[in-house]
Parts: sequence; C-alpha cells; structure tokens
Amino acid sequence: MTVTHLECAACGARHEARRLHNLCAECGKPLLVRYDMERVARTLTKESLKGRRADLWRYREALPVEREENIVSLGEGWTPLLRAERLGERLGLKHLYIKDESLNPTQSFKARGMSAAVSMALELGVRKLAAPSAGNAAGALAAYAARAGLEAHIFMPRDTPRANVIECEQTGAHVTLMDGLITDCGAEVARRKDAEGWFDVSTLKEPYRVEGKKTLGYELAEQLEWELPDWVFYPTGGGTGLVGMWKAFDEMEQLGWIGSKRPRMVTVQAVGCAPIVRAFERGQRHADEFPNAATVASGLRVPKAIGDFLILDALRASGGAAVAVTDEELLAAVKEIGAAEGLFVAPEGAACLPALKVLIERGDVKPDERVVLFNTGAGVKYLESF
Ligand SMILES: Cc1ncc(COP(=O)(O)O)c(C=O)c1O
Ligand SMILES: [Zn+2]
Repeated sequence: MTVTHLECAACGARHEARRLHNLCAECGKPLLVRYDMERVARTLTKESLKGRRADLWRYREALPVEREENIVSLGEGWTPLLRAERLGERLGLKHLYIKDESLNPTQSFKARGMSAAVSMALELGVRKLAAPSAGNAAGALAAYAARAGLEAHIFMPRDTPRANVIECEQTGAHVTLMDGLITDCGAEVARRKDAEGWFDVSTLKEPYRVEGKKTLGYELAEQLEWELPDWVFYPTGGGTGLVGMWKAFDEMEQLGWIGSKRPRMVTVQAVGCAPIVRAFERGQRHADEFPNAATVASGLRVPKAIGDFLILDALRASGGAAVAVTDEELLAAVKEIGAAEGLFVAPEGAACLPALKVLIERGDVKPDERVVLFNTGAGVKYLESF
C-alpha cells in the first residue's frame, strides 16, 4: 500500500485513504491521491519496468489499487507513440509524434481513467456507478463496470455520437439520453445519486480517474527514454489527462526518473466551446461557463470544468498555450492526418493539428523541438460527422 492520503488540490485538506470520497469535504474542489514516493521507488524502478505487463498497470506502485484481484483490466494503456514523419516534414518539424490512444479498450483514452476508477470502486465496495459523459467516458465506464460485475448508470446528451450510445447499451449499462449538455447530465446525476445509491464517477469529482490518466505522462517519459518532449498538445474537455500528466511529471521527478524540465502544455479546444482558452487569454484562474457550447468534437463540448484551475495552472507553469480551432479546421485535420499517417483519428485528437500550425506560425514551436499530439480517440466512433 503506497497511498498515504488524498489531498485537496485547492485548499490542501487531508482526506483519509481507503474511504469513498468525491470532492473535498472542506471546499468542494478535486482531491488528488498522494503516495509515499520513497516506498514506490523501492520496487518501481526503470530497470523493473522492462519485464512488466504491457498496460498501464505496469506502474502499479504509483497507482491506488491495493489488492491485485481488484484490478479491472481490459488491456488499457501502453499505446504506441508513433513518429509522424510525413506530417512533420510538411510542417517543417523534425520530431513530431502522435500518441495513439484509439488503441485502448473502447477506443479512447477514457479507458485509462475508468480502469482505475472502477477498480477502486470495486475495492471500496461500491456496487452502482453513475456518470455524465460526452460519449467516450460513457463507453469506457459501461465496459469496465460490466467487466467488474457492477452497475453503470450513464447520462449523455441526446446528440452524443450514436456509437457511444450503442456501445453502452451493448455492454449492459443503464443509459439515459438528455436534452442539454454534459453539465445538465452532471446535475441529474448529482440530483439522483443519493436516493439511488450511486457513486458519482464524474471527471475530477472522483479522485481515481486522474490516476489512470496520469499514466499518459509515465508512458510518454518511458517511450521517449526518459526525456520528455518540448511540447504536448492535448484536446481538453474536463482536462483529466492534462492534469494527470502534470501530476505524473512531479511524481517521476520525485522518483529521480526525470529532471525539472517540463513540456510546454497546450490545451486545444473548439471555437464553439473554449472556456479554458478564454480564461487563459484573460489571465483568469477559473473559467466562466461557456455559453451555447457547440462542436462536432463532442468530447470537447464541456462548458464548465471543475478542474479548470488545475488545467490553467499547468498551462501557465509550463509556459504553454491555449488554442481554439474551428470545427471546419478540425474536421479537415482528420483527413490530413489520416492521409499522411494512416490513422483515422477522433475529431478531438485531430484538433491538435491546426492548433500546432498556429503555434508554428507564431514562431513558438521551433523546427528542432519534439512535439507530441494526443489522438485521444477513434474516428470510427463519429461516422455521422463525416
Ligand atoms: C476523444 C476525446 N478527446 C478528448 C476529450 C477530453 O478529455 P478530458 O475531459 O480529459 O479533457 C474527450 C472527453 O470526452 C474525448 O472523448
Ligand atoms: Zn479543499
């Protein structure tokens, strides 16, 4: 057991490990899991990784599950970090990579977070899970809940891509489609959860999804032989992956695996829903709810994120950026990436490309720098958009 406690990311209040928690009991902000890193370092070494399982549980000591038999796995993580040479050449970049998260179970990076969250729910005795979702998190929750033999209650906007709705139904979840956005779905979960006995696994309202997502950061370092890239482009909705990676970098520094250099982190959003970009530009630490949110990149249609300050802090501390791109640009980028590299990426992942072009144009991203774009999901889930 390497977890020492949970800590509020805003006020620092300490919460006991091995208990069910949602938000901070003092201030209502997200909780982060803290580890005894010296203890982690005893067995989790660079050398030890060589013989380990090819999924995210290879970083087991830095993950919260205590008992091996509670790990709910479908083979998530350890996805390829592909060189994108043809695309790079076109952009004048020598070292462009795409981390292809579409190869996860349920075809998106949401599998990482849900594997960790469902495992912890199982370990802590939860039977019924509930979450609002923009689509991919729902598919992942449904799958992992089924795998664990738990109930999943899922609330999605009615216009969520059909593939997400169907996969949830076919993996046995209870699906409710709502008129409105993910925020409305979240409010419905909050309203009903006590009476129904559901544990709410909304993004960052539950402490363990971010633990699964942080393995993106561990993998980046390991796959680049412990030298982090100069730039990370991340399509941001609730921001769990970005917040998770940022946490992973600190943990790896404590392990002595990397130094203090960090990648410059870039949040990519759609023009039709860009609360983080707007707050970044205005110098705000918290983002206002984005009115009339609309974009075909359904995972980016998150008008209000509870972890907004964590995303914005990481962008600023890293000397990063926040860029909004149009739906037209991101849909065109699906085809550009597809034709150049052979990947049918999700519209969210594709959005990284026009954002990269903006930063190249500004002179921020230089030809010799190492750049990683996150393809967070699979284009095949969005057929109605093409
Ligand atoms: C494909 C895809 N990319 C990116 C995101 C945004 O992820 P996060 O909420 O971790 O910022 C989502 C969220 O639904 C998604 O489905
Ligand atoms: Zn707090």
